[in-house]
Amino acid sequence: MKKLTIKVGRNDLCPCGSGEKFKKCCEGKGAPIAVDLAGLYWKKYRIRLKNQADIEGLKKAGELVVETHRRVEDIIRAGITTNDINAFVHDFTVKNGAVPAPLNYKGYPKSVCVSVNSVICHGIPGDQVLEDGDIVNVDITSILDGYYADANQTLFVGTPSDGAKKIVAVARESLVRGLEMVKPGNTIGDIGWAIQTYAEAEGCSVVKEFIGHGIGRDFHEEPQVPHFGKRGKGVPLVPGMVFTVEPMINLGGPKLYILDDQWTAVTADGSLSAQFEETIVVTEDGFESMTPLVTG
Ligand code: MF3
Ligand code: CO
Ligand code: CO
Repeated sequence: MKKLTIKVGRNDLCPCGSGEKFKKCCEGKGAPIAVDLAGLYWKKYRIRLKNQADIEGLKKAGELVVETHRRVEDIIRAGITTNDINAFVHDFTVKNGAVPAPLNYKGYPKSVCVSVNSVICHGIPGDQVLEDGDIVNVDITSILDGYYADANQTLFVGTPSDGAKKIVAVARESLVRGLEMVKPGNTIGDIGWAIQTYAEAEGCSVVKEFIGHGIGRDFHEEPQVPHFGKRGKGVPLVPGMVFTVEPMINLGGPKLYILDDQWTAVTADGSLSAQFEETIVVTEDGFESMTPLVTG
């Protein structure tokens, strides 16, 4: 097992979890510190580390989300509407004893986000008919027994253009490159760095306004997980952290607009945008995905 080093400032809370400052507590004691990592991460970062029971609950939620995606893959085709996808995801989720997390979340009106072509994210299902050549991001979040799992992927309808193939491949690989950085000893910044370095080298751009997030018994928890950044910066990754990585990658520039519905984010230059998302837990030597749509 890799040795984990956490930098503790003299004025930081002591890693032993006493609630005292490090300089007034374990610093001078010269003995190894018994680290209450869960206590430390809560106090220092407001991150809730997950225990084994939590992880099992999250995995069950994740299995349902993956199964829902597999069924969407089967029904998606030219001629259906984005509302048809919403109806399917809603009914399948409820039938399986779960709750679609998007519905009424901060006023969001539907049970799934469906983002077509130049829509970056948070597309609201409606009367739009899918056409041959479209790329469609379907973002599904389900709550099962109180645990949230969140995953998305971008699908082709019919025959994709060269641009469509390119942006979907780069977005998918961006998620893979980001997740490759997930192991104790690395930081949140390493994830964003790997994604940004790769996507920009491919001539694409990374959306900055929307980021990955901790997840558990709430939809969006700490930490924030940007898809850009610097190596070695940000929160050190430790086992039991559960968060999403969900890079939104544009074929053109990174600028976006939000439509009048207050949700739909579109590329400012009208270029295609694609996204892939998984919910993962940091393990002793890497990560495990709750929603292995792309990995695993
Ligand atoms: N699933 C999105 C995410 O990955 C959040 C959607 S919020 C909603 O974080 F309200 F639009 F559903
Ligand atoms: Co998410
Ligand atoms: Co999502």
